[in-house]
Amino acid sequence: MEPHIAQKSPYASPVEAGKDYYWCSCGQSKSQPFCDGSHKGSAFTPVKYRAEETKTVYFCGCKHSAGKPLCDGAHKALA
Ligand code: FES
Ligand code: FES
Repeated sequence: MEPHIAQKSPYASPVEAGKDYYWCSCGQSKSQPFCDGSHKGSAFTPVKYRAEETKTVYFCGCKHSAGKPLCDGAHKALA
């Protein structure tokens, strides 16, 4: 099953060292790029990201990154 493409670009998101974030893998969340529970009933589950330092990271918005939950540039190849 293919994930829904939330957007074909990453979400620049500030993260805090030591905190956990739950990236939406299904693309259906209304709180992108994070899981809001909308995946329930599907084969998708959120992907946990632990921030090692406080900085801005780029979470994948297209949901097709091989380096999920972060953008690896795969969105550029999407039609
Ligand atoms: Fe998409 Fe939870 S809402 S993984
Ligand atoms: Fe998905 Fe870049 S937004 S790979």
